[in-house]
Amino acid sequence: MPDNVLEVHNAEKIYGEGETAVTALQNITFTVKKGEFILIVGSSGSGKSTLLNMIGLLDRPTQGSILVDGVDTSTLDDNHLSSFRNSKLGFIFQFSNLLSDLTVLENVLLPRKIQGTVDGAAQEARTLLKTVGLESQMHKFANKISGGQAQRVAITRALINKPAIVLADEPTGNLDSISAETTVHLLKSLNRKLNQTFIIVTHDRPQFGEVDKIVTIKDGRIVEGELETSLR
Ligand SMILES: Nc1ncnc2c1ncn2[C@@H]1O[C@H](COP(=O)(O)OP(=O)(O)OP(=O)(O)O)[C@@H](O)[C@H]1O
Ligand SMILES: [Mg+2]
Repeated sequence: MPDNVLEVHNAEKIYGEGETAVTALQNITFTVKKGEFILIVGSSGSGKSTLLNMIGLLDRPTQGSILVDGVDTSTLDDNHLSSFRNSKLGFIFQFSNLLSDLTVLENVLLPRKIQGTVDGAAQEARTLLKTVGLESQMHKFANKISGGQAQRVAITRALINKPAIVLADEPTGNLDSISAETTVHLLKSLNRKLNQTFIIVTHDRPQFGEVDKIVTIKDGRIVEGELETSLR
């Protein structure tokens, strides 16, 4: 296993062309080691979601390279890219994006169905749902649970394929303060318990307390001196 689960080298993203071109990211270089808990912070429009979408292989950089779990993702064609994404990356969004006509358990199992690795998946899903405190809710339909519970289901779904990295864009942005606190606590405990790497975009840096690294973005660039590292 490579030492770094993520390497971003000189990534640049330009949206559009000519006079209307927008440079959303420039000169982005950083690495993430397995098991790290990383925040991406910066003001609105600074490029946080653009960066997360590049790392999540939902969009490609216009220049530079992104290595996920040692694989240079620019070498993957679109077919390989989607299966690589499904196996190596887990996603959590601001809105939990659950399918309301499926149960909690069925929602969690979806990435395994897509991957074609359903053997043993139900038991693993149950174990994970127990870890996040939702064992008793697993047969409920996804539209019959609270927003905070739905976000915990989304977290479980992001973990079911044992991804190299879980990416979250404002995972607490749509929650009340109590649910947000529970969610942060859960993400940090999963990080420790499973040695799961997390990269989280947030506008609420204090909410997350102490973390391994903070990447601060301003006008599409990493702010010098703010790629701070702190020990847990
Ligand atoms: N699809 C797109 N086409 C053109 N420009 C875009 C596109 N997506 C983002 N941008 C521009 O790129 C820049 C960075 O946007 P991005 O969404 O990454 O910011 P952000 O830091 O996530 O902001 P917020 O905190 O508001 O979510 C902005 O100037 C934005 O207008
Ligand atoms: Mg954003």
